[in-house]
Amino acid sequence: MAQSRGQFSSKIGFLLAAAGSAVGLGNIWGFPTQAASNGGAAFLVVYLILAFLLAYPALMAELTIGRYSKANVVTALANLNPRAPFSQLGWLVGFAAVAVAVIILSFYALVAGWMLAEFFAPLAAKLANQEASLWFKTGHFQRDALMCAGMSTLTVLIIARGVENGIEAWSTRLMPLLFLILIGLIGYVLMQPGASDGLKAYLIPDIGRLLDPALILSAMGQAFFSLSLGVGTMLIYGSYLRDTDNLPRMGASVTLLDTGFAFTAGLLIIPAIYVAQAQGVAVYSDSGELIAGPGLIFQVLPALFAHMGGAGDWMAIAFFALMSIAALTSAISLLEVPVSICVERWQLSRTKAAWLSGGVIFSLSVLIIWQFDALFSLAITASTVYGQPLLGVTLCLFAGWVLSRKKLLSELAKGHPEIESSLFWKIWPTYVRFVCPALIILTFVQSLR
Ligand code: PFF
Repeated sequence: MAQSRGQFSSKIGFLLAAAGSAVGLGNIWGFPTQAASNGGAAFLVVYLILAFLLAYPALMAELTIGRYSKANVVTALANLNPRAPFSQLGWLVGFAAVAVAVIILSFYALVAGWMLAEFFAPLAAKLANQEASLWFKTGHFQRDALMCAGMSTLTVLIIARGVENGIEAWSTRLMPLLFLILIGLIGYVLMQPGASDGLKAYLIPDIGRLLDPALILSAMGQAFFSLSLGVGTMLIYGSYLRDTDNLPRMGASVTLLDTGFAFTAGLLIIPAIYVAQAQGVAVYSDSGELIAGPGLIFQVLPALFAHMGGAGDWMAIAFFALMSIAALTSAISLLEVPVSICVERWQLSRTKAAWLSGGVIFSLSVLIIWQFDALFSLAITASTVYGQPLLGVTLCLFAGWVLSRKKLLSELAKGHPEIESSLFWKIWPTYVRFVCPALIILTFVQSLR
């Protein structure tokens, strides 16, 4: 190995880094808009159930494999059982996970760049002139490529500094800031007329929709995307954990932080939609559907900020700073997946590996910007609808079937000596072998009908 492996220096460092990966555009944008268009609290209830029933056990599979192997996703899976065909299979699944991580980052960095552009637009209006502001507001090739390059460079610079000085140090700085901005924005929005209607829509469930298969599938996809599962990010973060840390408790804390953040983001976005409506902003499309996709973030919310006068500019700056920071801490975890492979398997220096992987992914982002209509949705669907759940199942199967029960137990017992008598140990090993894969596949197949 070229260099000694990095490690998180503290529990809180790991928690903030893993929460940083989990909390992203999926929480602040994806979750609230899915909830708004899927029966409000009905979606919330199903999401919470699935997050703990399916995503948490799958997260535990990744964290445990990672810490057991202390290696990148390819080496970790290939070495779980060095005999044929497990080793070859592990190698294949490992590279599939890297491919999906690379595809996700290529569209994620592009969307993150849009957030950065929306952040600069009101700033440019204040510091320079309207023309500069308009340049940032209008989507075109140069703007998208430049903003995406900005986000990608930040991501590379953080990853090049390593686990403790890069990932941990920056997550520890950015995550509290993210939380403070979110709370500040919620405080302001909830005082505006119309906000209480939004709270009602969000918190009173439309019970009739609880068992809607489409709703359940969206909630599962959202839970997997939000917990960053299936692509080796949580596996590699787990590999940097100290042996003394209690894995089931760490995993549960990350799940709680992630779902808690998504719930809290809902308290901002859904009331904001209703406040916008009260101010006369169109929040429903011509076909009567709630504007939930990019239109929400780039039309409805900016229109709401514009109605707020002087305070609106600061709201816009704070909101898009929130989005940019959330995206950045997720992007670094995605870049760590290929970088750890370049460093550990091909002995590249971390700096070289970060620039090389970042450069390749940025080229893919530019390709997506260039062929946007053909590639953008395709990249999202291939990686998040198919890739993540299928790889999530595979990682559960690796933890449950390829790693022996004895090895699982001794790994988990390192940070939790009484694990054998815990409820977790009574349920999880069987659960991750049979129940979790079956439930994920069932939900998945249901969606293909
Ligand atoms: N969890 C991130 C979000 O909710 O925005 C997205 C993400 C990050 C997905 C890392 C996958 C991943 F490996």
